[in-house]
Amino acid sequence: PTTRFPALSRRDFLKTSGTLAAATALPPGKAPGPAFATRLTPAPARVPMVGDDFPATAVWAYGGSMPGPVLRVRQGAPFQAVVRNGLDEDTTVHWHGVRLPNAMDGVPGLTQPPVRPGGSFSYAFTPPDAGTFWYHPHADGLVQMGRGLAGALIVEEAEPPQVDRELVWVIQDWRLTRDAQIDPHFSSRMAEAMAGRIGNTVTLNGRVPDAIKVRAGERTRLRLINAATARIMALRFAGHRPVIVALDGQPCDPHEPAGGRLLLGPAMRADLILDATGEPGSRHAVTDDFYGDELAYSLVEFAYESGPLLREHALDASVRLPPNPLPTPELASAERHVLALQGGMMGGMDMMGMRGSAAWAINGMSMTGDGRTGMSPLLTLARGQTCVLSLRNETAWWHPMHLHGHSFRLLTRNGAAVPGTVWGDTVLVPPREAVEVAFVADNPGDWMLHCHVMDHQASGLMTVIRVA
Ligand code: C2O
Ligand code: CU
Ligand code: CU
Repeated sequence: PTTRFPALSRRDFLKTSGTLAAATALPPGKAPGPAFATRLTPAPARVPMVGDDFPATAVWAYGGSMPGPVLRVRQGAPFQAVVRNGLDEDTTVHWHGVRLPNAMDGVPGLTQPPVRPGGSFSYAFTPPDAGTFWYHPHADGLVQMGRGLAGALIVEEAEPPQVDRELVWVIQDWRLTRDAQIDPHFSSRMAEAMAGRIGNTVTLNGRVPDAIKVRAGERTRLRLINAATARIMALRFAGHRPVIVALDGQPCDPHEPAGGRLLLGPAMRADLILDATGEPGSRHAVTDDFYGDELAYSLVEFAYESGPLLREHALDASVRLPPNPLPTPELASAERHVLALQGGMMGGMDMMGMRGSAAWAINGMSMTGDGRTGMSPLLTLARGQTCVLSLRNETAWWHPMHLHGHSFRLLTRNGAAVPGTVWGDTVLVPPREAVEVAFVADNPGDWMLHCHVMDHQASGLMTVIRVA
């Protein structure tokens, strides 16, 4: 169920890429690497999600694989994916977190026409940033992602840190019936106006996972992707001290999660370096206690092999990732905007006067469904302008707020400076709290800004920012 890369083949790969760099007389950090082309066909499929005692689960999958295939391209190398729609409803593919040309962003009715059943669309771009990204539909997201359409997009550094292996964990959350089928009642006014559709089963790469075998002393790079439609996760790694080296694909100062608890809202990613410091034969769980002790569960267990240590002492190679070419926000000349997140259920049934299909609003405006082209952009920014967005959550619920086409720098939480240099494309805003982010509006086009709880997005917590 996990993607593994033995150390040997990885070294071979690096050797090959070194040769390539020399041959093309580019500095090693600038080796473009080979282009990558693939086909993705979203269509119904059946996968053994829960185990042998249950029937296979009917899902929607890219090319029969759920989650979709792990796509890997080198930083700065061309990427192409031809998507053919095997569903009986419109779809698109959005490349979450990638700073790409607007026409490749996959938002139906905004950046491209929807891909009709049987139709196709060719996506092509060159990712400027290395990191852990992902792809998913941007049409009927609650249902299409809720039925399984999502996959990892890994953009590899020219010189990745030295590790023994790499694991990619696409984490999804499902509301399953007793016969392990997806509960088909996706929209609920209650879920929509509260925390969203939280499920009863969490999978790792499409399965309720078996324990993951580790060798004492080995170093793993763990790429975590929260691909759930609504579930927020607070992960604890018992017996381990994981080091966060990137958030939302963007390198950060290596640090341990505050309080040993890694908060990951829907759509957020974290790259961790995990040294296997446990004893041979021991077992250690990864648990999620975001919704409190009563609802805590074990996501997966690390099971140490009883054999000899891989090495005596942890590797002392640096875990710091090379920086990405992000434009630096000019705070002195920044344009500042407040975005108030409004609506949802408060104490009783009050939704602050929302009507129709809207349960949420940004500055009093609700864009619902897949978005409406008729609504004018909330903001228009001049190209190259630095923008500081103050996201003020006036609601009683958490919102992972996501901006397309750019990465932003986290400035403050409730007025206090965020330590270090942290970038992201999705920021989790707790109830009644405020977060300030800054970005250079250097990518022209109309870009979505929305909550990544799919129920919230569909019911109004969405808007468009124009860079002209
Ligand atoms: Cu991950 Cu607008 O999306
Ligand atoms: Cu996105
Ligand atoms: Cu939300």
